[in-house]
Amino acid sequence: MRNTLHFKLKNKKVQEDVFNAIVKEQESIGYYGLPEQDISTVLDFAKTIPDDITQIAIIGIGGSSLGAKAIYEFIKPTRSLKRELYFFESTDPINVNNLISQLDFKKTHFLIISKSGTTVETFSIYKYIYSLNQNPKAYTFITDPDSPLEKYANDINASVLYLPDNVGGRFSVLSTVGLIPLALSGIDIQSLLDGALTLKKSFFDAGYIKNTLLKKAVYYARNHSQYSINCIFAYSETLKYFSEWYVQLWGESLGKTQRHSAFNVGLTPIGLIGPKDQHSFLQLIMEGTRDKSVTFIKIENFQDDIVIPDISLKHLESLDTLNNLPFSKLINMQCDSVIEALLEEDIPLDTITLKKVNEENIGALMYYYEILTSLVGELIDVNTYNQPGVEAGKIILKQKLKEQKS
Ligand code: PA5
Repeated sequence: MRNTLHFKLKNKKVQEDVFNAIVKEQESIGYYGLPEQDISTVLDFAKTIPDDITQIAIIGIGGSSLGAKAIYEFIKPTRSLKRELYFFESTDPINVNNLISQLDFKKTHFLIISKSGTTVETFSIYKYIYSLNQNPKAYTFITDPDSPLEKYANDINASVLYLPDNVGGRFSVLSTVGLIPLALSGIDIQSLLDGALTLKKSFFDAGYIKNTLLKKAVYYARNHSQYSINCIFAYSETLKYFSEWYVQLWGESLGKTQRHSAFNVGLTPIGLIGPKDQHSFLQLIMEGTRDKSVTFIKIENFQDDIVIPDISLKHLESLDTLNNLPFSKLINMQCDSVIEALLEEDIPLDTITLKKVNEENIGALMYYYEILTSLVGELIDVNTYNQPGVEAGKIILKQKLKEQKS
């Protein structure tokens, strides 16, 4: 993974201070240690799921689903995987019914993933599915130790796996939360962790990414009132769900009341996909209010490349310049052209280049964004790891549910 910044920043002292704060934070925040974990429990569990189970249904929301979905949807188009994953994340009845209609219950294992063990969306869907299939062997629960969900799973004799309690939901993709579904699908989870570990070492051991990540974080924090919107512009459809994961990580971590003041702050994430969004959102970046920074993500080597045929279309001869061009070259030329146009407008931007679509690269990219989020959170003085705003809505809903029962 390469990251090139197209903006300048000098302040070394702030960079040093935030680096030291993050080094210290490793003692209490669990996600930093995930790349080094021993995955034998995950692999042993995966072996207990018989080969005739070909569908894995994940029931979970937010941090309990978005990370695994991002990685699965990144790898799946380039690989023939062992099992299909289905994500039940919504209480939209059309969506629930539609997903159920795609499942063959005899060939499906259900993973119910909830750190708190009490999330309304997850358990309304679980109740519905459980009413259709009450065999406890069809279910595995992933939750915090001692959560009500652990007790329930033990009562019905279903398997339970844990995530470390100091790993927050949206930072849990490299824990059992992401690793179990991904291992069951046939994705190489060790390579995923290896990619994250390479990135981690590069940051903490003064490698190539340390300077870049620190500069970028300080730039975002320093300029957060002017450039309050941070767009990711990914030039590959495979990164569509990575964008969703980024939006959650960035938004839920950084939109907060400051720890040492009464101010509300936050940076707004936007996930864009090229070239599609060149024909929509790009106009707003180019000529709209100057409040956006952009990170372009490119893939250097699209394994499944195809070439535009050497065909001349009558009256459309001006498009002959496309002839014999590989699609991979075209999409990256499109990205480079937009970068050039934005640089002329002085829009702050950077580019991340992934060599190819594989586990190492997505592992590194996600870990990169986790560290960046932690750095920016520290710099804008918020608690990156809580989500009182989300909790407030959950409490009101639970109250409303009680009221409609009485
Ligand atoms: O990042 C978070 O903490 C949240 O987005 C949670 O992941 C989400 O609310 C789901 O919670 P739970 O895993 O407890 O069901």
